[in-house]
Amino acid sequence: MKRIGMLTSGGDCQALNAAMRGVVKSITNAEKNVEIYGFLEGYKGLIYGNFTMLTGKDFSGILTKGGTILGSSRTPFKTIREPGEDGIDKVEAMKQNYYKLKLDCLVILGGNGTHKTANLLREEGLNVVTLPKTIDNDLWGTDMTFGFQSAVDIATEAIDRIHTTADSHGRVFIVEVMGHKVGWLTLNAGMASGADIILIPEIPYDIDKIIEKIHERTARGSKFTILAVAEGAISKKDAKLTKKELKKKMENYTYPSVSYEIADQIREKAGCDVRVTVPGHTQRGGSPCPYDRVFASRLGSEAGKLILKGEYGFMVGIKNREIIKVPLEEVAGKLKSVSADATIVKEAKMLGISFGD
Ligand code: F6P
Repeated sequence: MKRIGMLTSGGDCQALNAAMRGVVKSITNAEKNVEIYGFLEGYKGLIYGNFTMLTGKDFSGILTKGGTILGSSRTPFKTIREPGEDGIDKVEAMKQNYYKLKLDCLVILGGNGTHKTANLLREEGLNVVTLPKTIDNDLWGTDMTFGFQSAVDIATEAIDRIHTTADSHGRVFIVEVMGHKVGWLTLNAGMASGADIILIPEIPYDIDKIIEKIHERTARGSKFTILAVAEGAISKKDAKLTKKELKKKMENYTYPSVSYEIADQIREKAGCDVRVTVPGHTQRGGSPCPYDRVFASRLGSEAGKLILKGEYGFMVGIKNREIIKVPLEEVAGKLKSVSADATIVKEAKMLGISFGD
């Protein structure tokens, strides 16, 4: 008999259901006596003992379904040791529920914050196996997270569509792509859609370099310019500010996001007609792309294998196209960001893409 707890935590993404289906199918195909406890809305469900009993059938027909059948929420790691509003000790409550239900292990699907808490639960003695989800692709220890390729497809299509209207009207367009801390999504969608300028958090921009690129394009006879800008793009000037100074700037910030600030600066300095498009959460929504369906199924299947063998304390990821297991303590708390020296950045620059640096 295996008793397995499962939860999805943090911002959702495509292929969460495909990954859970992979775990459950691989286990139930090998072992008939399995109980699955689906904790609702992330760690919250584990803290408050809010779960639903699931069977193999519940995981049928969900390979292509977006979102998560368990629901999700954010439980910040920063405050995990602090009592909740109701005074509850969150870590103790999660442990108690785990032991009360006599679980053999927890399968946790999540991104960076989720992995910090998963590792904490491991340190506290719980058996944990995790799967890397996020459209940001910023989890250390895996070349890829599921959700990422689906989001690249959506952001790419958004920029593709902008191309034709930008051309018709001779405008500068900024498409704001998700990613506050890292620029993988913006970089990949920007390259895939032929953006002229790509701005990511890891490479601070100089507005004058952006203007230079627009002028260069105009001089060459291009009617329009497309910028793919990450939510977390930052100017060289702002990157030099201390945390305190930046916080102060943000208190008086009147733009909805950085893209609108850049748009105003381009209007003012280059006199162009500028528009901003924000695809926002559409990047996380809907059905996973075929790559993510296969990838999440493979991860799920390997996680199932670990659970059947009783091997815990790992994240299942991918390295050089091979599915691997990475010790959780190695993953937790590390961000996989785009290096300014990365080969892909150099290649993009050789193609004439400006990073505004
Ligand atoms: O971490 C995934 C992500 O989609 C980021 O790219 C984005 O910055 C953030 O979540 C948005 O968070 P929320 O869904 O809470 O608005």
